[in-house]
Amino acid sequence: PALPDLRPQSLSEYIGQEEIKKKLQIAIAAAKIRNEPLDHILLAGPPGLGKTTLAFVIAKEMGKNIYVTSGPILERQGDIAAILSALDFGDILFIDEIHRMNKAVEEIFYSALEDYKIDIMVGKGPTARSIRVGLKPFTLIGATTRSGLLSSPLRNRFGMILEFQFYSENELVEIIKRACGIMKIKVEDDAAYLIAKRSRGTPRIALRLLKRARDVMTIKGKDVLSKDLVEKTMDILEIDELGLDEMDRKILKTIIEIYDGGPVGLEVLASTLNVEVDTLKEVHEPYLLRMGLIARTLRGRIATPLAYKHFGYPYKLRGGLFD
Ligand code: ADE
Repeated sequence: PALPDLRPQSLSEYIGQEEIKKKLQIAIAAAKIRNEPLDHILLAGPPGLGKTTLAFVIAKEMGKNIYVTSGPILERQGDIAAILSALDFGDILFIDEIHRMNKAVEEIFYSALEDYKIDIMVGKGPTARSIRVGLKPFTLIGATTRSGLLSSPLRNRFGMILEFQFYSENELVEIIKRACGIMKIKVEDDAAYLIAKRSRGTPRIALRLLKRARDVMTIKGKDVLSKDLVEKTMDILEIDELGLDEMDRKILKTIIEIYDGGPVGLEVLASTLNVEVDTLKEVHEPYLLRMGLIARTLRGRIATPLAYKHFGYPYKLRGGLFD
């Protein structure tokens, strides 16, 4: 992990996501009393909100090993069969981007999750046969950007589906201050607040901005992180008052300048910007939607009056959005 020492080790150290923590506390305590593995858990939400971090916290709280892999890495049934048969009782398998597993790998999981058994094909052609392998009861923790991206047979096998929410500014301030404590940085309240304000509700971004601000602090020979230093850092990184970066502004400007404010289809927009549709949809778009800078219509994305205002462009009323 990029920030190993910054990661919380227990649920009590984990800041925010209160609804999720409440549900987990009950499930973890109950599983421990019954000496059972935790039920399979799906963590759903935009990148950078702490899904992987939470999976490590869960393993720590359960006192079990955690093995980490990701959907696109698992190519063949044999890959996953090898991993599953190596798990001990109650161990946790964490699969990031679980919606990106291929069908063959996904199908292995149906019986693995339900009955702790896998059927694997060995051989080819007329000599091919299926062998059944028993597994020790384990826990799968899957992470995905949206629970809706999973096929229903897979989604239905999770005992808990936990949806992550963006963090409030106060929660981000807490996370920033906690990280400053660990990194032994003195930070002023308004400096922490300014970082939080530009972090789009996302701890990963808050901690990245904090580290860049610390760099500026270091080269300027200061020993307190002040609002001034944070402002300077934001200028250098070209992150504006709304927390938008270069890419966000490029997306908005493309809709406004090239497509006259839209509507423009997501695929067309992605190819104009030269990015993957999935990346545009799961990484960039959620924040722009949340900020009300773009909107979805039946015919594609539009830039809202707020987006025009942000760039100081006049907004002209056009025909109905849905015609
Ligand atoms: N670091 C990243 N996310 C965190 C969280 N939710 N709580 C504490 N530290 C974090």
